[in-house]
Amino acid sequence: MAVCGPKLRINGPSVIYGGEGVRLGTNVSFNGIFISGAGGVTIGDNFHSARNVRIFSVNHDYDHGSALPYGPEVVSRPVVIENNVWLADGVIVCPGARVGEGVVAGAGAVLRGQIPAFAVVVGNPAQVVRYRDREHYEMLSNRDGLT
Ligand SMILES: CC(C)(COP(=O)(O)OP(=O)(O)OC[C@H]1O[C@@H](n2cnc3c(N)ncnc32)[C@H](O)[C@@H]1OP(=O)(O)O)[C@@H](O)C(=O)NCCC(=O)NCCS
Repeated sequence: MAVCGPKLRINGPSVIYGGEGVRLGTNVSFNGIFISGAGGVTIGDNFHSARNVRIFSVNHDYDHGSALPYGPEVVSRPVVIENNVWLADGVIVCPGARVGEGVVAGAGAVLRGQIPAFAVVVGNPAQVVRYRDREHYEMLSNRDGLT
């Protein structure tokens, strides 16, 4: 990995390809994750993945590549995950996604594009169903110095 902060915990089967593109913050916890990191994957502090979480940062260049169904050419689309994010069981993060601070992604959610900070999102494509209780979030954040 390009950067790996302290307190990394790996509690389940976890695989990282293209680790040179992966940057991890402090207190990152993987319960079972696959990361395709060659296009750039940045994960902030206090991240928690449940099992079977998948993060992709590269697409095959199907519009301009030299072979079918795709050639060796790829399009890199970096993924950024801000601090204090929980990705529940089976979440998929697509290339180019930017996941805001404090986001909770429900089981099986497919994340693409911009996911707003403090949102609770579910479904495919992920939609906001509510926002976290900001007062409680800020209390914990101030207490533990989480931001
Ligand atoms: C996302 C989640 C945290 C929300 O829990 P919650 O705050 O109690 O929310 P609710 O159960 O009230 O659901 C809110 C809405 O989202 C929907 N929803 C909740 N989870 C969903 C999911 N995973 N996929 C699709 N829709 C979901 C509900 O149907 C509900 O919709 P409605 O308002 O139209 O009825 C929870 O449902 C979930 O997915 N937890 C993941 C569990 C897990 O993976 N644990 C691993 C341990 S690390």
